[in-house]
Amino acid sequence: AATVTYNFDVGWVVANPDGAFERPTIGINGQWPIPAITANVGDRVVVNVKNNLQNQTTSLHFHGIYQNGTANMDGATGVSQCPIPPGATFTYDFKVNQPGTYWYHSHEGGQYPDGLRGPLIIHDPDSPYKGKYDEEIVLTLSDWYHDQMPGLLNFFISYANPTGAEPVPNAALMNDTQNLTVSVEPGKTYMFRIVNMAAFAAQYLWFEEHTMRIVEVDGIYTEEADADMIYLTAAQRYSVLITTKNDTSKNYAFVGSMDQDLFDTVPDGLNPNVTGWLQYDKDAELPEPATVDEFDPFDDFTLVPTDGEELYDKVDYSAFFNDITYIRPKVPTVFTALSSGTSATNPEIYGSNTNAFILEKNQVVEIVLNNYDPGKHPFHLHGHAFQTVVRSADEAGAYVYNETFPQVPMRRDTVMVRPNGNMVLRFRADNPGIWLFHCHIEWHIASGLVATMVEAPEELQKSLKIPQDHLDACARQEIATAGN
Ligand code: C2O
Repeated sequence: AATVTYNFDVGWVVANPDGAFERPTIGINGQWPIPAITANVGDRVVVNVKNNLQNQTTSLHFHGIYQNGTANMDGATGVSQCPIPPGATFTYDFKVNQPGTYWYHSHEGGQYPDGLRGPLIIHDPDSPYKGKYDEEIVLTLSDWYHDQMPGLLNFFISYANPTGAEPVPNAALMNDTQNLTVSVEPGKTYMFRIVNMAAFAAQYLWFEEHTMRIVEVDGIYTEEADADMIYLTAAQRYSVLITTKNDTSKNYAFVGSMDQDLFDTVPDGLNPNVTGWLQYDKDAELPEPATVDEFDPFDDFTLVPTDGEELYDKVDYSAFFNDITYIRPKVPTVFTALSSGTSATNPEIYGSNTNAFILEKNQVVEIVLNNYDPGKHPFHLHGHAFQTVVRSADEAGAYVYNETFPQVPMRRDTVMVRPNGNMVLRFRADNPGIWLFHCHIEWHIASGLVATMVEAPEELQKSLKIPQDHLDACARQEIATAGN
């Protein structure tokens, strides 16, 4: 295994990815789009961050990475660290023992939609799909706002927005552009690693006249399954194999289309779609895609992990998650756990606004999620992938135990609950740490749709060491916020 080191100078640049509006955007080393982080299974990843934003604190979270043994490297401010103050340096240092398609993003105060989000790819020499494709291509989807997040967030939580309507994005992007062409050769198989890095909008995705064969979801290999259209909520990922045609005379469109059901009102003139092209012939035209009026995406719950991991049948702990409001503590929860001795297993230590659930080592935990809201919510758990046990139809109301459970459930780290529906998830608490469970719509983090899983805090006390730069960030916290 190798050590892969990245030196990231986080600062403002100007970008105009939809060609309609130039705006300050958060880049890395003077560039935006920001670079992908890539490593191999077993590598150690070191990311040295310098915060050159001057007017904002920051952090980096490595979405989907378990951070086993390094719970303080998870990047969630108020949970695993204090915000990185302007001018400060801060090092993330962790091992990646899991293959797959991930992403990294700021986990500080609604910041990532301003640009601080990019792919994180862990290659696997032992992939069950090794040899089944010729090349891989990273395809990011995202929504895009012309306004900057601090202003949008102020409006979103203000009395001027009594219905709590989420700001609607101005555009959709693929690989941070609206002019994406992917050169392909005939008769080859490509693995597309697809990541939705959106703040808000889920996207439907389809390739005209080409079938996607799904082989991975959120870092979990799945038995190959054919799909004409997939749906990715904010933060979800898929790897799909696409075999190209033998005929090179035409190019083909592929389309990402934002799910407009999420929007309270659809502004006039909004184009929900972004189109890219599989380019077989660079002299042939780039055809306009046909309109699709009915969306019928692949059902992710039908996927089967290749490792055959069976449903945990004994539940030790049940957590009910309803409508609760999280307020971020000033002292990161991981520090509270480390400094609370035997009280670390008492939820009250973590304050009344963290929605703390205390989990014992190796318990099988079941989360029952009742969505009393007419919206769709993509829930994400840090530190784990969960088994997806039950997901109701729209409008089914609260969960009632009357289900036939899957024998080998699909697993992933971000999953969508349906409008006024319910969902049951299970995971094993085998990764001591403080892990957020939250809706990945950035607006809903701001409104507190967040809970904290405090997993085996006594184990953490035995092993976790906090490096000096992490302590320094906390010492400078008051100064940094006062300067904002
Ligand atoms: Cu993508 Cu709380 O994370």
